[in-house]
Amino acid sequence: MKEMVLVSGGAGYIGSHTAVELINAGYDVVVADNLSNSDMSGVEGVRKITGVDVPFVNVDCCDKEAFRRVFEQYKFNSVIHFAAFKAVGESVTDPMKYYRNNLTSFMNVVDLMREFGRQNIVFSSSATVYGEADHLPVTEQTPRKPATSAYGNTKQMCEDILRDSVTAYDGLKGIALRYFNPIGAHPSALIGELPRGVPQNLVPFITQTAAGVRECLSVFGDDYPTPDGSCLRDYIDVVDLAKAHVVAITRMVEGRNKEAYEIFNVGTGNGTSVLELVHSFERVNGLKLNYKIAPRRPGDVVAIWADTTLANKELGWKAERSLDDTLRSAWAWEKHVRGIK
Ligand code: NAD
Ligand code: WQD
Repeated sequence: MKEMVLVSGGAGYIGSHTAVELINAGYDVVVADNLSNSDMSGVEGVRKITGVDVPFVNVDCCDKEAFRRVFEQYKFNSVIHFAAFKAVGESVTDPMKYYRNNLTSFMNVVDLMREFGRQNIVFSSSATVYGEADHLPVTEQTPRKPATSAYGNTKQMCEDILRDSVTAYDGLKGIALRYFNPIGAHPSALIGELPRGVPQNLVPFITQTAAGVRECLSVFGDDYPTPDGSCLRDYIDVVDLAKAHVVAITRMVEGRNKEAYEIFNVGTGNGTSVLELVHSFERVNGLKLNYKIAPRRPGDVVAIWADTTLANKELGWKAERSLDDTLRSAWAWEKHVRGIK
């Protein structure tokens, strides 16, 4: 019998790509999502790409009784927990919204896994836990900095909840994946990122500007202490990121994890500047982007990229898709969404 994985938040950007890769790797998948930041197009895209009629449950993971019924109905032994709010700025102005959703949903998952004796969990963490690191690239041993947003704080708190839970509760195993900057879309252009309102992240803003939805991209700062003055980030292709979840789950399913709780950076190991990214996007897609230099955005770290040695060695995982291909896929997805030929 195939192993089944519950993908909470699986209608969203990273979850939908992960569902595809899980199915490609031979897993059965059930998606649970309340569509608070997504719609059914993600699940439909997964079904179209894989040819599998993936079960979908519309459920709020914060509603424990309703969520319990998903555990009663499906016999998955592993969970990948994506369900969370992720807008950093909003989390500063409405922190309780973030604490309530991100912590409650995660604690419910852990509680229900214990109650039903389910074993393996992958948690979506973030490079945001490192803040402005003293040394680059960051390894998993790099100390976390105090969070500067409620969002970042929920990631740190959930990491700690997971660590304490797997230490205390026999049989529970967990992996926190610290994503760097996920970008791009599936090569089919059937699934991708669907930001609501004005995009906060760079690549969706770029693609919407190229599509004429936004007039002009603001590059937030060109006077940072970096080679071209703009910030450096580690942009990780979403399909590569999805595959990291598959190897993390498989590691636990096969009992190859070295500790009950493990942490892995998921990035490329390269720092790319905002201006480099903009120019690469223009080059690979053969278009000119309307952009201007704007003031720095408060809260931005100057530079961060991953040391991925641990994931390379322990998970046997490495980012494969080139930045050029990823930027092509981002534009192909935006064109699909806008109906541009
Ligand atoms: P997303 O918003 O596209 O996906 C999250 C999904 O979770 C959405 O479909 C949303 O409807 C669902 N959801 C939210 N709260 C829920 C709840 N209480 N019950 C059920 N479903 C709920 O976001 P994403 O970019 O795919 O991010 C997935 C995860 O990865 C999040 O935990 C996010 O914090 C984390 N992460 C994202 C990034 C990034 O830049 N995209 C970087 C690091 C970490
Ligand atoms: C990247 C670079 C901006 C928009 C955020 C979260 C982080 C993680 C990933 C969840 C920065 C610049 C951006 C624009 C710009 N998410 N930029 N013009 O801030 O690195 O990370 O998403 O865990 O927690 O903080 O990503 O895409 O917003 O910005 O110049 O319109 O692009 O200043 O240097 P960030 P981003």
